[in-house]
Amino acid sequence: MDYRYKTIIEPFRIKSVEPLPMLSRAERGLALEKAYFNLFALPARTVTFDLLTDSGTSAMSAHQWAGIMEGDESYAGSASFERFERAVRDLTGMEFVIPTHQGRSAEYLLMKSLVKSGQVVVGNTHFDTTRANIELMGAEALDFPSTANQDSESLDPFKGDIDLEKLAAHLKANASRVALAILTITNNAVGGQPVSPGNIEAARNLLKTHGIPLFLDCARFAENAFLVKARDAHYRDWPVKRIAQEIFALADGALMSAKKDAFGNIGGFLAVRSPKLARDIRNLMVVTEGFPTYGGLAGRDLEALAIGLSEVVDEHYLAYRIRSIEYFGEGIERAGFKTIKPSGGHAVYIDAGASLPHIPPTEFPGLSLSVALFREIGIRSVEVGTLMLGKKNEKTGAEIPAPKELVRLAMPRRVYTQSHADYMIEGMAQLANTLGSLRGYRFTEEAPVLRHFTSKFAPL
Ligand code: F0G
Repeated sequence: MDYRYKTIIEPFRIKSVEPLPMLSRAERGLALEKAYFNLFALPARTVTFDLLTDSGTSAMSAHQWAGIMEGDESYAGSASFERFERAVRDLTGMEFVIPTHQGRSAEYLLMKSLVKSGQVVVGNTHFDTTRANIELMGAEALDFPSTANQDSESLDPFKGDIDLEKLAAHLKANASRVALAILTITNNAVGGQPVSPGNIEAARNLLKTHGIPLFLDCARFAENAFLVKARDAHYRDWPVKRIAQEIFALADGALMSAKKDAFGNIGGFLAVRSPKLARDIRNLMVVTEGFPTYGGLAGRDLEALAIGLSEVVDEHYLAYRIRSIEYFGEGIERAGFKTIKPSGGHAVYIDAGASLPHIPPTEFPGLSLSVALFREIGIRSVEVGTLMLGKKNEKTGAEIPAPKELVRLAMPRRVYTQSHADYMIEGMAQLANTLGSLRGYRFTEEAPVLRHFTSKFAPL
């Protein structure tokens, strides 16, 4: 690629297209009312830009689609499994490769094999399903995120890091209760922020002195490796794949939702170095996931994932991917919103608390903004604030607000173009003039668990 030009282009051309649903503002208003203002309840056919998640929503390449036809559907030991196993081994250096139907099933199998009631799993910030699987074992999930990400404006390059001082202090007092550690790369919960190799190595050394294994939740390992290359001069001339391999070399195992950086519409895996752990997991999985060489996936899925894992470390792709997130974030800032900085790997996170200061956290400013983004522009986003993460005071039932009121705009991979981003930014610039008139929301029906998925709301 010739980098004489400032513009970084989509390094692909389009072979197959899908029409975007184009509704009027009034039609979207009706859809919102029918969904009780919960964007998870919207039919996808009403959404023009679906930025709810980057998970399972990638566009596959022509090579992947060709692989689908090559998929070997043998029940045991299929050739597609062998290709998948080779791809994961090549990347992680881990001998035992276990496919699963998605990330959370890998989490379940790992926790069930290694974690007992009363134990603790530490990490930089556990993703919600990881936390839920830890808690399902009667164990506790503890997060030690870097203090750098308390300040949304700080340009710290590695806001995804684990806080090493807190980790050291916790291990000093309680190491015997810690079953394992998980570092999530990139750190989704704090803004898709990268984790530095130095931080992973230091955490590994601390854990090692206590004999505690380290696992990587590597759903977005390639975005993490590219951000390491871009932000740490030491790695400037390294191939991204080698950076990823160096990071995997620090861990005892890895678990991946392959619906992200493997360009899969479904899939996941566990990779481990310990033969005993591999045996335990394989014995467990035959009951729920399937035989250990398919793990709940079709042979064609394994084939597409093996190809996706080799495509994702392409540096032209990653340069475009990371720049397109940054470009979108810069445009949204220019339109008049506050976003989390620096821009992360897979999404732009708007600080709805700072953008809508007149709506208190208990009236869900993030929900208010995401409803407005849908009504005005047709964008589906997700609130990551008090609605999703808030807790209740056990005695009084009063809401305890989340640390931040965010709205995540996650970009599916290879799906939307720069003119889609420009259109959304233009819409947001108009919306920014009317933010003062947006109102908060109250529950009309509150779900008892994971309430953001199914609750119903009304504007105040
Ligand atoms: N780990 C991370 C870091 C994730 O972001 C996710 C999913 C999972 C594990 C679970 O994987 O969905 O395949 O079971 N994240 C999606 C999101 C849902 O929108 O961020 P899964």
